[in-house]
Amino acid sequence: MRFLVSLCVSLLLLINVAFSSISSDPCYNYQSLDRPWRANNESGDWICDEFFSWNGWYRLFYNGMNIQMSGTCASPYTCNTYHNLWLNGPHPQIEDGVVVREVCASYYQGSCCDYYTKPIRVKACPGNYYVYELVNPQIWCSGYCTDVSTISQVAHTVSPDIITGSSITLNYDPCENYNVINDYWRSTFNYWSMYGYIYDHDDTRVEWDGWYRLFIDGSSAQMPESCFYYMACGGFSSLWLGGSHPQLEDGVVTREVYGSHYHQCSRYRSEPIQVKACPGDYYVYKLTRPTLLIPAPVYCAVPSSTPSVDPCYTYISLDEPWRSIDNYNYYGMCDYNVEWNGWYRMFYNGENAHMPESFVNQGMCGTYDPLWLNGPHPQPEDGVVTRQVCVSWSADCEYKSHPIRVKACPGDYYVYEFVKPIVCGAYCVDASNQSIPSVSTTPETIPSVESITPPITTTAPPVDPCYNYNVLDDSWRSTNNQHSSQIMCDAWFSWSGWYRLFIQDQSVQMPDTCVESIVVALMLHSG
Ligand SMILES: *[C@@H]1O[C@H](CO)[C@@H](O)[C@H](O)[C@H]1NC(C)=O
Repeated sequence: MRFLVSLCVSLLLLINVAFSSISSDPCYNYQSLDRPWRANNESGDWICDEFFSWNGWYRLFYNGMNIQMSGTCASPYTCNTYHNLWLNGPHPQIEDGVVVREVCASYYQGSCCDYYTKPIRVKACPGNYYVYELVNPQIWCSGYCTDVSTISQVAHTVSPDIITGSSITLNYDPCENYNVINDYWRSTFNYWSMYGYIYDHDDTRVEWDGWYRLFIDGSSAQMPESCFYYMACGGFSSLWLGGSHPQLEDGVVTREVYGSHYHQCSRYRSEPIQVKACPGDYYVYKLTRPTLLIPAPVYCAVPSSTPSVDPCYTYISLDEPWRSIDNYNYYGMCDYNVEWNGWYRMFYNGENAHMPESFVNQGMCGTYDPLWLNGPHPQPEDGVVTRQVCVSWSADCEYKSHPIRVKACPGDYYVYEFVKPIVCGAYCVDASNQSIPSVSTTPETIPSVESITPPITTTAPPVDPCYNYNVLDDSWRSTNNQHSSQIMCDAWFSWSGWYRLFIQDQSVQMPDTCVESIVVALMLHSG
């Protein structure tokens, strides 16, 4: 096996030695890459460089200071990636000009140079820095490491290019002087599992200057006020506004910005930003460079355009009693397969009904994964608002579906702009009370409290699991499935009870020996 791998690697090396000619001196034509989370003393994430696009020469920084690519094998689990990439061979001297260096990949179980990625070109520059022609490493989840022991101050200490806005008085109205950001990929609908692994964007590499207004596909948008997922908005960490948007009369306000990480919504705290509500129903944001220690952060956007017709009077009626939060008959309903389009009003057997505002037990609403609204419905004066939708996994909305827009209508009903949810679940309907008690009058009930203690039965299972199991027949789970380009995560699924394993109707069992890492398979495959 080891021999085969090295054979493939040798072939790869031979193929890839053809480099393009360099038209201008890379010492003065490079892109700055200031990603302190790549350092060899950072860990905790698996950020994969093959999902970024690489193009040309890069100079590496660590919070504005020079740093070099690791020239030695990094410790396991570091550089916030799975396979550490380091330069196998010394950094060149200035007189060496452009040199080619091997890049080694190591991972936590292996030795220091388990695989080689494509070799790269390196150059030493006057002024004591290096430039690297970084390329797509093409090894599953690998990342270029930087070495904190090589940090050096940039010689010419130019004042930082960030001018603090606080000392400058606004002599213009940002509502009329803003930059337009119209990036469809900032939308929370740009979720990685649906569109492939898109997290190529990184707002720390944008030269932010002034005020911005967000659009999605030309329609007015705003920052979300609740978190969705990491890797949801075209970057790795999704940035959202930690507070509500201001009203017109509030003028310019400052709001916290948080970055999500896996299921943790507020794992990262970015630079606070200024926000202003504008006449004409939109917001402007004074976006700044996000905190550098957040991996590939991106400011997220959700639609906020005023619907062209009032959804209170142009909705689709949804009267499907199986959606009830009291319905414990499992029908396996799946809103994921519905072509949602526009606004919906919920009924229950002809009666006015609404979405539940708190946790619903799994298995209710005719589906395995009920979908509920996190928090209260809006008031009529709030207009169209965006609300977080939760999947019934935990009471505190640990698992989320796409946010939806909601409007309270005259006549005590609500309309919802339903979208394809993230799971095979169903939007629930609550018919218990026609009108929801106004939140302001009953502050004593906090919706999530009752559901903090889920009914956990600690007694022995009442039925023999040998005869009461769920069938799990996913052929991709097979140890033979080595060439899959798709990466599955069991954290995505809601597990409950006992399971029997099958592969294409054949009874199987879990392996009781170690299964080879995906990487070897990929290497053999590509070689
Ligand atoms: C990594 O090293 C740098 C430079 O010595 C230091 O400032 C930083 O706090 C270290 N990070 C961690 C997580 O130890």
